[in-house]
Amino acid sequence: MEIQFTPTATPKEKPKDESKLGFGKIFTDYMFVMDYSADKGWHDARIIPYGPLALNPASSVLHYGTEIFEGLKAYRTSDGEIRLFRPWENIRRMNNSAERLCLPEVDEEFVLSAFDRLVTLEKDWVPHEEGTSLYLRPFMYGNDPHLGVHAVHDATFVIICSPVGAYYAEGINPVKIIIEDKDVRAVRGGTGYAKCGGNYAASLRAGKKAEEKGYTQVLWLDGVERKYIEEVGSMNVMFKIDGTIVTPALLGSVLPGITRKSCIELLKSWGYKVEERQLSVDELVAAIKDGKLEEAWGTGTAAVVSPIGTLCYENVEYTVNGSKIGEITQRLYDELTGIQWGRQPDPFSWCHTVCRA
Ligand code: COI
Repeated sequence: MEIQFTPTATPKEKPKDESKLGFGKIFTDYMFVMDYSADKGWHDARIIPYGPLALNPASSVLHYGTEIFEGLKAYRTSDGEIRLFRPWENIRRMNNSAERLCLPEVDEEFVLSAFDRLVTLEKDWVPHEEGTSLYLRPFMYGNDPHLGVHAVHDATFVIICSPVGAYYAEGINPVKIIIEDKDVRAVRGGTGYAKCGGNYAASLRAGKKAEEKGYTQVLWLDGVERKYIEEVGSMNVMFKIDGTIVTPALLGSVLPGITRKSCIELLKSWGYKVEERQLSVDELVAAIKDGKLEEAWGTGTAAVVSPIGTLCYENVEYTVNGSKIGEITQRLYDELTGIQWGRQPDPFSWCHTVCRA
């Protein structure tokens, strides 16, 4: 499929101070859009000036939440390359999410070529400062203009780009997390493993309550027994307990994070024992009380690797590693960002070169 291009008449000014980018507040000049209908398949691929999308008020996304998304980053390396980190993993996961939400799947090669075209066009928007990148947000929504509750027949796929810095105001400093024992994010058999807007909508109330109490995010427990640890707000979570790395297994309600997968691969290559298994909150609290919880951190594209310095459960606050970033957390952060920003070799061939800067 050809990608049509419409140039903008009003290019925007790029951010002057890259230390103040924050996350997802500024958008570039262009976006990629393509449409799907049951009879035509995917069609009308185009790169057009960034701007509002037209929606029929009956569109299924507005009524039934038929939406999925991804998040990945383009990095500017010191030797003048623009690269993406494991983009094929995002596209594959998007197709898994599409299958769960009855949205149409995309052609993986074509979407990769759309990333390449858009990022090449927007390469001057990839920021330069340490810790910054161009965040790509591909998303898809159901567009069927009628109110029957059915699998989607019409859809739109869009990619927007945003120059970003750290996701958390804390940057790489430890965050404070509260364990949520009332609201749940997802249940097995539901949509937890899919990256769909509805999962995030369901998380907002607990997130708001946590923020009001002074916590950065919520740590979710399973939806059946409120017993097993699942993930943290917008990140997967890992613990170092008595020398072993423990992370919740992917049993259907946890998002299969690409940073999670990369960290597991790195940790194993460094000789650590990594257990993907159910971890109960009681086991975690017992490990804290016994002095066996050595480190805790979250992993995610937006947040990268984020140390957890405080955990609150049933109104008791526990400090992890003296509220300081731990040795493995720091090593994972350095190694991953080193590979992404081209400061060190890419032994697993995770990076996809888009263009010269
Ligand atoms: C990401 O890490 O890319 C995410 O999708 C998290 C996001 C909801 C901020």
